[in-house]
Amino acid sequence: MTKKLNIGMIGYGFMGRAHSNAYSQVNHFFDLDYQPVLKAACARNEAEVKAFAGKWGYESVETDWRALVARKDIDAIDICTPNDLHKDIALAAAEAGKIILCEKPLARDGNEGEVMVQAVEKAGVPNMVWYNYRRVPAVTLAKQLIDEGRLGRIFHYRSVFLQDWTISADLPQGGHNLWRLDAGAAGSGVTGDLLAHCFDTALWLNGPMEDVTAMTETFIKERMHNLTGKMEKVGIDDACAVMTRFANGSLGTFESTRYARGHKSKYTFEINGEKASIAWDLHDLHRLSYFDHGDDSVVRGWHSVHATDHDMPYMGKWWVPGLQIGYEHSFIHQVADFLDGLAQDKVTSPTFKDALATQYVCDAVLASAQSQAWQTIKT
Ligand SMILES: NC(=O)c1ccc[n+]([C@@H]2O[C@H](COP(=O)([O-])OP(=O)(O)OC[C@H]3O[C@@H](n4cnc5c(N)ncnc54)[C@H](O)[C@@H]3O)[C@@H](O)[C@H]2O)c1
Repeated sequence: MTKKLNIGMIGYGFMGRAHSNAYSQVNHFFDLDYQPVLKAACARNEAEVKAFAGKWGYESVETDWRALVARKDIDAIDICTPNDLHKDIALAAAEAGKIILCEKPLARDGNEGEVMVQAVEKAGVPNMVWYNYRRVPAVTLAKQLIDEGRLGRIFHYRSVFLQDWTISADLPQGGHNLWRLDAGAAGSGVTGDLLAHCFDTALWLNGPMEDVTAMTETFIKERMHNLTGKMEKVGIDDACAVMTRFANGSLGTFESTRYARGHKSKYTFEINGEKASIAWDLHDLHRLSYFDHGDDSVVRGWHSVHATDHDMPYMGKWWVPGLQIGYEHSFIHQVADFLDGLAQDKVTSPTFKDALATQYVCDAVLASAQSQAWQTIKT
């Protein structure tokens, strides 16, 4: 019989919707021992959280996350708030013995992340961080190809995450929808928000990084702050470029900016190995580009693999071969894996501990940009 898992969701924004959709859909497509129940949604504005709860089918609402965490009928707390709340909610949820699913980045920095890892490990509660790109079928396929040794020795890892939505100097910082521009709420700019995704995928596909050198820039130095009504210094990095050395001897370059006019969410990576190369682009997320030097020379070239056949990761659960899925499915896959892990008493990555490794890379990147020197990444 299916066991119920009562979810308490905190935050109803972009991720609150993405996760609610995943919980609602997962048992329609995956055969699982657990079934998430949308038990309670929480946010500060009662009218808005009630409207959200009604739309998605949550049974109840709370306006104080501490009240939600204290509820006996909640099994799992899902943290979909801005980054400055992740630590306090996670600590309280761990203390209350709840399962914790936390949005990325784990925290604003490694210090907060360490306390969170200690809390979940002390409490012994299952935990996971939503680095969802690992569960895009074409990205999971990339992992399989690398693990099978098809690329051979890896020489290069190259990744960018480009956006263009903060170019206007008139855009304020802070508050609803604009907390990403406020260093106090976000921790950092593109490094913690966008490069964190690139680093998580890179650590997963290519192993640990040893040291980094980086430069950052804040193009607009002052913006009106929505919470104070005053012009205030901008504390986030608008753009960041990184060079790194991986433990496997390969070289990595990473770039992120919110000032790349024309790019909305251009997350790409390319990996060059001795025998083959692979490349992926979020704007075309169902395809994996693959170049195999072992191919007969007259047909050798970049192949575009349409990752929709049933032998591709996760795709056997969806439609017929050739019909593709999208962004939201990566969250459904992550929930499916997490629920499967719970049923089998197995850890599902990325855990808080895995996400702390990404946090350490972000910390080293920002420290290097500050010191203008190479920084060793904490392990
Ligand atoms: N995995 C991904 O690809 C991805 C994508 C976007 C955002 N995120 C992460 O998800 C988190 C949320 O981002 P978002 O884009 O959904 O933000 P958002 O601004 O759309 O939503 C944030 C929500 O938090 C709520 N909130 C704020 N303070 C609160 C409080 N004190 N108590 C209860 N609720 C509160 C707000 O009401 C809002 O509903 C961030 O950590 C972000 O980095 C991850």
